[in-house]
Amino acid sequence: MDFEKHQNLHTIVMLRDVIRKWWRLELTFADKHGGVQDWQRAEGVAPPNDFCRHSLSSKEGLRRCGQSVRVLHEKFKASKTHRRALFHDCHLNFCIVGAPLYIGQDYEGFLFVEGFARQPLGPSDAEATRARLGMPPERTGAEPRVPVLDASEQSKLADLLEFVVNELARQEQTLPSLSSELSDRFRFEQIIGRSGPMMEVFRLMEKVAHSDSTVLINGESGTGKELVARAIHHNGPRQDKPFVVQNCSAFNDNLLESALFGHTRGAFTGALREKKGLFEVADGGTFFLDEVGDMSPALQVKLLRVLQEGTFLPVGGTQLKEVDVRVIAATHKDLGELVKRGEFREDLFYRINVIRLQLPPLRERRDDLPVLIDHFLRKHHRPGQQARGLAPDALGILGAYTWPGNIRELENEIERLLVLGGDQDTIPGDLLSSRIRDAVVPGGGPFVAPRAHGKLHEAVEALEREMIHQGLVRTRNNKSRLARELGISRSNLILKIARYGLNKGLPDDLDDPDEE
Ligand SMILES: Nc1ncnc2c1ncn2[C@@H]1O[C@H](COP(=O)(O)OP(=O)(O)OP(=O)(O)O)[C@@H](O)[C@H]1O
Ligand SMILES: [Mg+2]
Repeated sequence: MDFEKHQNLHTIVMLRDVIRKWWRLELTFADKHGGVQDWQRAEGVAPPNDFCRHSLSSKEGLRRCGQSVRVLHEKFKASKTHRRALFHDCHLNFCIVGAPLYIGQDYEGFLFVEGFARQPLGPSDAEATRARLGMPPERTGAEPRVPVLDASEQSKLADLLEFVVNELARQEQTLPSLSSELSDRFRFEQIIGRSGPMMEVFRLMEKVAHSDSTVLINGESGTGKELVARAIHHNGPRQDKPFVVQNCSAFNDNLLESALFGHTRGAFTGALREKKGLFEVADGGTFFLDEVGDMSPALQVKLLRVLQEGTFLPVGGTQLKEVDVRVIAATHKDLGELVKRGEFREDLFYRINVIRLQLPPLRERRDDLPVLIDHFLRKHHRPGQQARGLAPDALGILGAYTWPGNIRELENEIERLLVLGGDQDTIPGDLLSSRIRDAVVPGGGPFVAPRAHGKLHEAVEALEREMIHQGLVRTRNNKSRLARELGISRSNLILKIARYGLNKGLPDDLDDPDEE
């Protein structure tokens, strides 16, 4: 079992989110040999505090941290029957807790969280830790903050880890297809989404990746057309051959023609020597024709010929050339409509519209916002940045915005937020671009959740969010009680709270763990 594959699993994304928001800690995986791949890559991991950060940044420190992980690993391996979470104190006296993952009888590694203290660090503790790490003394007296988890918090964290490993094991066992589905999902790892419309896209992608048929990708600007085209190529039989991209609206007709099909020497003024066209460059591989709706009628004829016969004539040439190219075409336009208006050849339309992948705009898959935000926060996180998430008001505004620029706009916004607010733990809503803020809260007032309207599932979600929110206030954040009232499990409630970003500004959890 490859934990890499699990990074985008709903359960893991939610768990990571909960752990970040509640305890400001990070979830990490150790494989069945006790290795931590996140640390090897040293990217995207945000150590929980500056001491750990310091330790992980040196070879010796990394070795010591690895030892602590190995202690847990050895214990888990030693006893196949022990499937509960275990704690261990590391070389810096911080705590690490892990829960082993078994698929059937096989030990597959463990999930863990490290770098928290059991009680607040006094100045002398901090000084001792500094000395142990060879860190210079802090002159301002402002010691790094170390998350502190008392006994009850520790047991909640352990419960949560156990719950998730059991859940992963259950999914893996009860759904025999999950492994293969996971590996398929992993193959499209860069394409984030778990909403219904995206699942549909993944299913179709899986089918077409193995075939050689022409694909038409339809979607608004910034919905991931090129990303999807690349993924289809890289997961299909042509993956070792070239993937060539040409945007058909970028050039005038003559230039586009010679770019696509090449030209002979002297074909036109300035054609000093023969030049290969991109179709030839793409031979054996895949050609991504972007904005195919902008192609002139003359070039449409030439394209149709390549598609039907695999042959074309270079500009100025007299001899047909033969190529074996898979074409993936994309457009944000409605090609059927262009055909009706006589702007696109009907025969070409039918030839490229064999399989159509319709990419949903972001506003139709709002379920994906949290995972996308999480993905872009990880993608654009730079060493030294603290930020682990967005504040609830920022999430609320992003959730209410209509995203005309789609995922590209979201990605740019998250990147910008990290630049402006990356030094804060959670990035507040007032750092959002005014374009986005003003569209959602005109006049710059506080963000108030919009009334439920539109699609049924959105209305249901809005109601669910509201019920949980009010319930949390009413029960003074007693999650066991609220879960009982709502008729769901406490763990499920915890995941929902994180999903809706409801875990800020509430009184401390008054849960009595014995109550359960
Ligand atoms: N589902 C997704 N998951 C993660 N990132 C995505 C997803 N969809 C798009 N992106 C990112 O959004 C950006 C835009 O994607 P892409 O260029 O593929 O869109 P496009 O539809 O080709 O846009 P345009 O019409 O403007 O050319 C890229 O940075 C891409 O990585
Ligand atoms: Mg594009």
